[in-house]
Amino acid sequence: MPSGWPERLGVHPPIEAYDALDSTNAEARRRAEAGEGGPVWITAAVQTAGRGRRGRAWSTQRGNLAATLLTTTDRPAAEAAQMSFVAALAACDLADTCLGPGAARLKWPNDVLVHGRKAVGILVESGARPDGRLWLAVGIGVNLAHAPQDVERPATAFADHMAIRPPEPAAALAVLADAFERWRNAWTTQGFPTIAAGWSDRATGLGQRCEARLPNRTVTGVAEGLDSDGALRLRLDDGALERITAGDVFFGGA
Ligand code: BTN
Repeated sequence: MPSGWPERLGVHPPIEAYDALDSTNAEARRRAEAGEGGPVWITAAVQTAGRGRRGRAWSTQRGNLAATLLTTTDRPAAEAAQMSFVAALAACDLADTCLGPGAARLKWPNDVLVHGRKAVGILVESGARPDGRLWLAVGIGVNLAHAPQDVERPATAFADHMAIRPPEPAAALAVLADAFERWRNAWTTQGFPTIAAGWSDRATGLGQRCEARLPNRTVTGVAEGLDSDGALRLRLDDGALERITAGDVFFGGA
């Protein structure tokens, strides 16, 4: 680890590291379905079948970070989904640590952009446990060293914006896991408004026109901000308000 990277800052769940997995989210799901509840971070140096949002693939080459937190929650599914904003804030903190404060911005719902290009992707999956609680697999992929070419959106890597080598994935995960604990604690003790405020402070595109590609249609309007549950408030051209709960948004073509 290059000097200057923070050493382990706090207490986070244990980390189990693999050299290769199909997908850290798939491994978390297998464990959850076998009854494991975590919390545990699962990481792999290489993913052979990394999963992205909306059925897309996510490429993880050696040098990038692929990690999934397997955990359990008492919250209902709609509320548990707010964990994706917790993850986005933690990833933004990691980007700040590596690239300097303010270098990264968040795009709804949970992409981390560096100079307008995607550097981090987040995929939260969940399922019911026999005890009635939910398991959550919070998957985070960080392009530390390499920007994949096989994504439909422009991507970048931290390395493209650093004068020194990017952190090794293990060092990056230690920072990420600590940041995740801080934001998760804020969510637990102060509620979603604190998370929404942190997210909004770091967001890109609020107040701007955007196109929202929803599962079965596309709408355009002005992105006003987060609703109280994390939905995007989109003011349509006819003045109506649409709450976007699933989909991709594009500002100025990105
Ligand atoms: C996206 O499409 O933006 C989400 C990408 C999520 C990728 C991460 S890498 C770690 C975890 N394991 C996976 O298979 N996917 C997530």
